[in-house]
Amino acid sequence: MSAASTPSPVEGSATPAPLLLEARGVVKHFPIRTSNGKKIVQAVDGVSLQVRAGETLGLVGESGCGKSTLGRCLVRLIEVTEGQVIFDGTDITSMSRRELRSRRTGFQMIFQDPYASLNPRRRALATVEEPMRTHDMGTEQEIRDRAMHLLEIVGFDPSYADRYPHEFSGGQRQRLGIARALAVTPRLLIADEPVSALDVSIQAQVLNLLADLQRDQALTYVFIAHDLAVVHHIADRIGVMYLGELVEVGDSSPLYNHPAHPYTEALLSSIPVIDDEVEKRDRIVLQGDLPSPIDKPGGCAFAPRCRYSQAICVSDKPVLQLLSDGREVACHFPLVAAATTTLTI
Ligand SMILES: Nc1ncnc2c1ncn2[C@@H]1O[C@H](COP(=O)(O)OP(=O)(O)OP(=O)(O)O)[C@@H](O)[C@H]1O
Ligand SMILES: [Mg+2]
Repeated sequence: MSAASTPSPVEGSATPAPLLLEARGVVKHFPIRTSNGKKIVQAVDGVSLQVRAGETLGLVGESGCGKSTLGRCLVRLIEVTEGQVIFDGTDITSMSRRELRSRRTGFQMIFQDPYASLNPRRRALATVEEPMRTHDMGTEQEIRDRAMHLLEIVGFDPSYADRYPHEFSGGQRQRLGIARALAVTPRLLIADEPVSALDVSIQAQVLNLLADLQRDQALTYVFIAHDLAVVHHIADRIGVMYLGELVEVGDSSPLYNHPAHPYTEALLSSIPVIDDEVEKRDRIVLQGDLPSPIDKPGGCAFAPRCRYSQAICVSDKPVLQLLSDGREVACHFPLVAAATTTLTI
């Protein structure tokens, strides 16, 4: 996954895996009415990224930075204002609703609160069967057998098939949501904070399930989270978002161990260090809240909160530049040496 033309091979393979998902300059603006008249919320502001088959891209950033909006654009649950989303070689942003419906089996989204997306009056088995019926994926018997199999895959005893969503715990509901998402044999799952609402012990169970499914079913993930510590463990690559833009993208370990963007550095410094592998980091307390995506600052959007900010940061918007380790960062003064090339996207 990279906005640059420098593909990173998926671990263990000699040649890079093919691209499965690509966002090209995705913009999502929401017009809103305020007491001062009409305004525009610049929720996603020109994001380009690439995800290779079999890879997990983690997306992190503070609340309100546009992660969910971007996730929804990537599976066209909402329409983009500008830009394209290419899934498996086809632009899904410009296709008709009818075409999109048939392509939707390729990509599914799982949500933080699966309860909101589960029909409370539908039993577990019927919940998993329903998308297969919608997409006409076999005979009644085949659909039933596959739904039972999926319930088993996500860890349910057959007796759970007749239960309603309210009879499940939070973690169980998330597993049911995952079984439902898998019903249409997607290749890509966009998981929007799938474990944030769960107890820590249950979080590990759901994360392990997602990891097993990725291995067994050759899935590709975009995993959205607040928590860089969680993302670091499960993502091959990480994209850090700030005010609707990607400010740093790169392989998980170098980004986690040697952040290049001052915002990534600040996010990482807030994680308590519990293992010896990672150097102790001084806690950087960011001044002020995330600025409003309605009146974004000019220049670098992070400059008003950045401890390294200089005059150019306030006047000139930094573009993504390539670092010597293949990472990309949008900063005038990256904390890791820059290569000589500047990316133009
Ligand atoms: N339908 C909408 N209309 C107007 N503004 C919206 C809409 N949806 C999202 N926004 C705004 O867009 C910005 C990005 O929201 P989004 O939900 O994508 O952030 P997020 O990074 O997912 O946050 P969180 O971590 O809290 O889930 C926020 O300022 C939000 O208020
Ligand atoms: Mg969100």
